[in-house]
Amino acid sequence: MSDFKIAILPGDGTGREVAIEATRILDVVQSKTNYGFEKISIPCGGQHYKETGEEWAEGSFEICRDEADAIYLGAIGYPGARLPNGDLAGGSVILGMRSGLDLYANVRPIKLYEGVPHKVHGHFTQIWKPGMVDMTVLRENTEGLYHSLLRRSADRALGRKEYVPPEMTFPGLDGEVAYDPRPISEKGTERLVRMGFEFAKNRNGAPIDGVSRISCIDKSNVTRGCQLFRRVFDSVSTEYPSIEVDHGYIDAFMQWLTRTPEFYDVVVASNMFGDIATDLGAVLQGGMGMAASGNVGDEHAFFEPVHGSAPKHAGQNKVNPIASINSIQMMFDWLGRKHGEEDLVNIATMIDQSVAEHLKDGKSLTYDLGGTATCSQVGESISNILGRKLNEL
Ligand code: IPM
Ligand code: MG
Repeated sequence: MSDFKIAILPGDGTGREVAIEATRILDVVQSKTNYGFEKISIPCGGQHYKETGEEWAEGSFEICRDEADAIYLGAIGYPGARLPNGDLAGGSVILGMRSGLDLYANVRPIKLYEGVPHKVHGHFTQIWKPGMVDMTVLRENTEGLYHSLLRRSADRALGRKEYVPPEMTFPGLDGEVAYDPRPISEKGTERLVRMGFEFAKNRNGAPIDGVSRISCIDKSNVTRGCQLFRRVFDSVSTEYPSIEVDHGYIDAFMQWLTRTPEFYDVVVASNMFGDIATDLGAVLQGGMGMAASGNVGDEHAFFEPVHGSAPKHAGQNKVNPIASINSIQMMFDWLGRKHGEEDLVNIATMIDQSVAEHLKDGKSLTYDLGGTATCSQVGESISNILGRKLNEL
């Protein structure tokens, strides 16, 4: 019997609803295997802030850091919930953990399952068939354009004095000037890029040709930070001669990602570029309801659907829980690899297969995929399929 402590942070809005479906998966695995999960529920987010004056209770960050084996987060964001300094209320949860737990890679798989229509409309609507979109984007998660917000959020989470970026003057600009420094470091880039090459080694290559390929997406024709990013990428690439190397500028990449997603296998990008590119990527996999992610460091990790709290859909049991379920799927894979527990990795594969079977069947889809099923109906269907698979383990 192996027990894992899992911190569950439902957060705001629909985050709370999809967290129930994530938990259902943990419960099914617990009931059918020798694995036990101690769930530590942590209320947090913008609504919690409005109700209590705190983004999360004091000591919550420490529970995530010192007690939890893995962390799940639903979504953060509540209408009008801002801190006195103007930052997003709940930011110390999502951004505080990214920075404070040194989760340097935001891992975002983009895969189109059979039975799911992608969301590129028009003449070529059905051009992207399942199997033609299957890549993983690794977004740098601790620096870049998010640097000062990440630092402030971690400082709040840790009860430290808030970081204030150095004052600067900008020749040629008069009056009030707002700016966000975008530091990109050699170390931060190297560890992300290295993880990207390791991912490429363990995947099956790009859909178009089966070649293991890694694409470095930057704007090195313009920014110094991107020049460093690309230089570090090129230098690490010499250690992985079996992996084909590709370069692209972020603006052109937006075209190629839409036109030929089957070319891409693993993509590495700096923080804000990765944020933007993965929302476009979600379109290719059927929308935000399908987009899962893991914020991963060497010691810790937290898993969250890429979508936000979607306040306008909250309380209606209607959103797609698959992004959330697939985030739990990533958690099983990560826990299994970290602890050398092959069964956990196999369970992760089974969760993926259960999602695939559910979608292929096509009978119970949420509104975003053209159906009328509820969030909980989809969650129940997938966990029932998983339960049957686990019986055979
Ligand atoms: C994401 C989100 C977050 C980000 C927001 C909620 C701070 O867009 O996870 O992609 O910008 O990183
Ligand atoms: Mg985003």
